Formats: sequence, C-alpha cells, structure tokens
Amino acid sequence: MERSLVLIKPDAMQRGLAGEIIFRIERRGLKIVAMKMLQMDKALAQRHYSVHKDKAFFDHLVDFITSSPVIAIVFQGKNTVEVIRQTMGETDPTKARPGTIRGDFGIDIGYNLVHGSDSLQNASKEIDLFFSKGEISDYDREIGKWIS
Ligand code: RTP
Ligand code: MG
Repeated sequence: MERSLVLIKPDAMQRGLAGEIIFRIERRGLKIVAMKMLQMDKALAQRHYSVHKDKAFFDHLVDFITSSPVIAIVFQGKNTVEVIRQTMGETDPTKARPGTIRGDFGIDIGYNLVHGSDSLQNASKEIDLFFSKGEISDYDREIGKWIS
C-alpha cells in the first residue's frame, strides 16, 4: 500500500472547493489516514517546494501557498501516488483534461487548486514535513476488499 500527501491549496479553500476535491480522490477508493487544516509559514513552504528553489516562480509560489490556510491530507491505498496525480490532472489547468480536478476547475498554472506528491520518495518526505507518526491512523475498512 502506498501513501501520498495532498494539499488543498489556498485558491481551493477560498473558492469552497475543499469538499469537492476530497470527494473526488476519496471515491476512487483511497483511504484518508491523516488530515489537518493549517496556515503554512514561509519556512515550511520553502522546504515543501525546495526542489523549485532556483525557479523564477519560486517566490511567487511560496507567497501563494502561505496566503491562506490549506488542508493537508495523507491518502493511502493501491497506486496512490499515480491515482492522485491522474485525478488532479496536468500542472497547467489549460492542458489538464476535462474530468480532472484541474481540468474542471482551473484556468491558470498559478492557481491549480491541489498538490499531490509526484513520487513515493517525495511522498514520504512530504508526509514527514506535515505529520508526526502519531497523527497518522492506519485502520482497516470493511469496504477495502471491494476496492483492491
Ligand atoms: P504541485 O507540486 O503543486 O502538486 O504541482 P505539480 O507537481 O503538478 O507541479 P510542479 O512542477 O511541482 O510545480 C509546483 C507548482 O509551481 C507552480 N508553477 N508555476 N509559472 C510557472 O511556470 C509555474 N510552473 C509551476 C504551479 O502552481 C505548480 O503547482
Ligand atoms: Mg510538484
């Protein structure tokens, strides 16, 4: 079973799309094992997006992600990283297919609503940034056997 970190970004929070985004990912069959709302500070934002630190858009990205609260969620299930990336759609909403979160609700790369880890290795690092071990609950669901 894989785990991945999802962030409901500030634009989605401001637009009241948190429930819609969680709904779409959860109904694929992935299980929520941790969730919290928080205001990211600059240090956390810089660590979370450290791979982009040399990019031109880095400062803007840090300003954006710290501009309003976010919801951080750990999802668990089969092929979780790939399933979430597919459900989110391409980074640029103008290239994201209709039926994906970004393709249905976004029009600008800077306001693409949701973050999902892009690899298992990054998922593990990102989960550790946002959650302590005690905040993650691994539990069984009866429905699990009908999903994977
Ligand atoms: P994320 O990390 O937020 O889930 O998005 P992603 O993997 O699909 O895209 P990534 O390449 O990691 O980029 C991180 C975020 O930076 C913003 N971005 N802006 N102006 C630009 O050219 C540009 N490129 C990327 C996007 O908001 C993207 O989500
Ligand atoms: Mg990324």
